[in-house]
Amino acid sequence: MSKPRVFVTRVIPEKGLERVREVCEVDVWQDTMPPPREELLKHVRGMDGLLCLLTDRVDGEVMDTAGEGLKVISNLAVGFDNIDVPAATARGIPVGNTPDVLTDATADFAFTLLMAAGRRLLEADRYIRLGKWKTWDPMALLGVDMKGATLGLVGFGRIGKAMARRAAGFDMGVIYYDPKDKEPDPKIEATRVDFETLLRESDFISLHPPLTPDTRHMIDSQALSKMKPSTVLINTSRGPVVDLEALFEAMKEKRIFAAALDVTDPEPLPPDHPLYTLDNVIIAPHIASASKATRDKMAWMAAQNLIAGLKGERLPNCVNPQAYSQR
Ligand code: GLV
Repeated sequence: MSKPRVFVTRVIPEKGLERVREVCEVDVWQDTMPPPREELLKHVRGMDGLLCLLTDRVDGEVMDTAGEGLKVISNLAVGFDNIDVPAATARGIPVGNTPDVLTDATADFAFTLLMAAGRRLLEADRYIRLGKWKTWDPMALLGVDMKGATLGLVGFGRIGKAMARRAAGFDMGVIYYDPKDKEPDPKIEATRVDFETLLRESDFISLHPPLTPDTRHMIDSQALSKMKPSTVLINTSRGPVVDLEALFEAMKEKRIFAAALDVTDPEPLPPDHPLYTLDNVIIAPHIASASKATRDKMAWMAAQNLIAGLKGERLPNCVNPQAYSQR
């Protein structure tokens, strides 16, 4: 019997690719840049499966170009806002993602950003490189304390909860806002509050919601105006959750203390973006899950989702189980 044919939109860790090759005939996009739209459409034609990245926009046109044989879409990410999930569900195509395996790496990095921005680490490094370090200065590079500070988490899913666990080790208080959180977790000390209270009371605000129409520009000029001037804002979720123009205006006027962004809108953020002119902004290139072990696990999980879908089995991690009833 011939092997199923799949398109993998980038070279992914060998752990996952090897697994896919065992079962499938694989077309792997070799460039380090994502396939342009016309190439994506060309390569997906006639495929049984698609393993894609968060940089690929997978909509109904991609699915229809692949054709009726497309059995599964497997995203190498926990977020799946790049995929038109309702379009996949309507076509009976299950969509897989990679939750859990990246929770700790992502929370570790969000916490790294929180500490680095609060204690002005990158600014300090630049200060030295610019030859400004003349002596121990009691007034230089003063940051904000973590002990006793309030961490406000927007989104209290897996990663938000992992942040709360880390915060406990630093004697921080934790409040969170999550309209979807139904049952408080008794093992985690955190208080549920409304969005307005979170904005007003937090010393650090870390964003962990999925990107949806409700969360797009959730942090806008109004939200920023409610924060304390000492607030440190961290975003490791999706770029469009923060209105970057509003953030720039707020930071230019020193209305908040610092911001650290692992995600921006757009990505990459153009090199002439005004945010780069501000010393108290840290920008990273969407690397919160980028540890070797975590990316191996994500690749393996994406491969397992893909293969299950090709075999007509339930995906280990499916974001649209309703797709099964459409078949
Ligand atoms: C990364 O941003 C992911 O969603 O996995």
